[in-house]
Amino acid sequence: MSKLLEVRGISKYYVHKDGWLPGKRVCALEPTSFTLGRGETLSIMGETGSGKSTIAKIIAGAERPSQGEIFINGQSLNLMSDQQRCRHVRMIFQDSLRSLNPQTTVGKQLCEPLIFNTELTPRQQKERVHNTLRKVGLLPDHYDFYPHMLSSGQQQRVCIARAIVLEPQIIVADEAFAALDPSIRAQIINLMLDLQQDMGISFIFVSHSTEIVKHVSDKILIMHRGKMIEFGTTQALIQQSEEPLTRALLCSDYNYKVPLNSTTKE
Ligand SMILES: Nc1ncnc2c1ncn2[C@@H]1O[C@H](COP(=O)(O)OP(=O)(O)OP(=O)(O)O)[C@@H](O)[C@H]1O
Ligand SMILES: [Mg+2]
Repeated sequence: MSKLLEVRGISKYYVHKDGWLPGKRVCALEPTSFTLGRGETLSIMGETGSGKSTIAKIIAGAERPSQGEIFINGQSLNLMSDQQRCRHVRMIFQDSLRSLNPQTTVGKQLCEPLIFNTELTPRQQKERVHNTLRKVGLLPDHYDFYPHMLSSGQQQRVCIARAIVLEPQIIVADEAFAALDPSIRAQIINLMLDLQQDMGISFIFVSHSTEIVKHVSDKILIMHRGKMIEFGTTQALIQQSEEPLTRALLCSDYNYKVPLNSTTKE
């Protein structure tokens, strides 16, 4: 599989501005490296505060790394304009209703990335949006709907449409399916897998669900206290890993006690 994404030594430190210890430096992510092929799915797992969203946000360009670099097709993300980056990587957020603008129609929200990132004419934009709505199992009529007129599954489909409308190479989804009820979740995940086959998109999922991770992932990355403790193919990790945390996350029969005070590393 050809290498699409190369994450080389990214780390993230935050300096607390207020609270008990202003000026204190917190390490959210220690230097981390991994690669992802075209059309592959990577899942990131780990307990709360272990740095999963930090990785997702850095790859999606919502945060800058303190160190390290990310390459897509050998080109550094640092050297790309926001427009170029948006065309390569898009993000789907956890709370779909909150990430949609309640006062703007679905169509206008889907046209927005096209207005800012492409040279398409308004007519071409509308055509692309209609096609995208069809791809995610909605109707062209939904163009004129407001988010509150849609069910939660339809709202999540709009979020997926917004992520794919620019035809990106990578989609990052940070616990994007956690709030959906199980039957809708299954539909949305199958939709994502179909889109992956049709469009050759690579996915990065942050997920707590062992079942989903095992079902969709080619590779898995396990995080603990800001540190990557394991990265490998799904099969290798399930069959061969001797890391207690990996086994606890992937093998439900394994009993592992998370150490106390295991969230933030200074
Ligand atoms: N803006 C910020 N300022 C200070 N610290 C932050 C900031 N964002 C994240 N952190 C810290 O970085 C660490 C990693 O956070 P992150 O959001 O990546 O965790 P996570 O693995 O996604 O957790 P969860 O499963 O709860 O979503 C946490 O200890 C968090 O408090
Ligand atoms: Mg998170």
